[in-house]
Amino acid sequence: MLEATEKIWHNGKLIKWDDAKLHVLAHVVSYGSSVFEGVRCYDTTRGPAIFRGPEHIRRLIDSAKIYRMDVPFSVEQITDAMVELVRANNLRSCYIRPIVLRGYGDMGVLPKYNPIETYLACWAWGKYLGDEAITQGVDVCVSSWTRIAPNTLPALAKAGANYMNSQLIRMEAEINGYSEGIALDVNGYLSEGSGENLFIVRGGIIYTTPLANSVLNGITRSSVMAIAKSLDIPVVEQPLPREMLYIADEAFFTGTAAEVTHLRSVDRVMIADGKMGPITTAIYEEFFGIVNGKKPDRYNWLTPVKVAAAEPVGV
Ligand SMILES: Cc1ncc(COP(=O)(O)O)c(C=O)c1O
Repeated sequence: MLEATEKIWHNGKLIKWDDAKLHVLAHVVSYGSSVFEGVRCYDTTRGPAIFRGPEHIRRLIDSAKIYRMDVPFSVEQITDAMVELVRANNLRSCYIRPIVLRGYGDMGVLPKYNPIETYLACWAWGKYLGDEAITQGVDVCVSSWTRIAPNTLPALAKAGANYMNSQLIRMEAEINGYSEGIALDVNGYLSEGSGENLFIVRGGIIYTTPLANSVLNGITRSSVMAIAKSLDIPVVEQPLPREMLYIADEAFFTGTAAEVTHLRSVDRVMIADGKMGPITTAIYEEFFGIVNGKKPDRYNWLTPVKVAAAEPVGV
């Protein structure tokens, strides 16, 4: 269950958690008109820090632009507001959820008289696919649901409505005893998980599905691609047939929620010996080294959140 914190940021002001309410006739409730982000703040060895905050907010504003929603705040203002919010809630590590939505006004599909509301919330959060998943890997399936097709719902926009499709994929996987589902695109090529980008390793090369296969332009995806480059591991973006999964040497998901999680099996077919393979391990160690502050922040991905020093224990 969601653990409430004290404050939520709404249109430039901090309000109480319980006061962040919507009218049931807000446009977003009937028509799914929201765009949002998921961002992590890590408790690094140098103090709390937000991972790739400006890139997430740039994507939020891009998502809003695709849907003709004018956000009256800049990338810098919202990034600063995320820092302010984490400080106000006195958290060291948390998940941050920025949301832009069409609010209460007129009722009808055309959102002519519905205000744009911007909210930021944050709360403590653990591992998305379960505590064990991050080290033991996950058993997943290929979904019977197809990912949203091009020119239907735009996949590059992280819009609330896209997650109706994600819900179908994730619920079906859960009912059938899998941790997650991978969707194919409208042409039958691999797309992505319900909330993660997909990587496959074969013969020392990392493959991932391109943006044209109905995937979100993941921030963790781009981080992993940068890390792979620095480790001299080639990354190829190309359409991938489903069966590449079954013959992979390694496969893994990336995402703010899933971080870097290797796939143990797909459709009950074991990937190699089911353990995290060497290339995934190298990426995993570099990724967690950076976000935990144990390795230098060489890409400038972390925005520090200045908080009061922790109380000394036992005094
Ligand atoms: C559908 C989908 N794909 C991919 C991702 C991974 O994106 P990111 O790494 O930016 O969190 C997410 C998570 O936001 C997602 O919901």
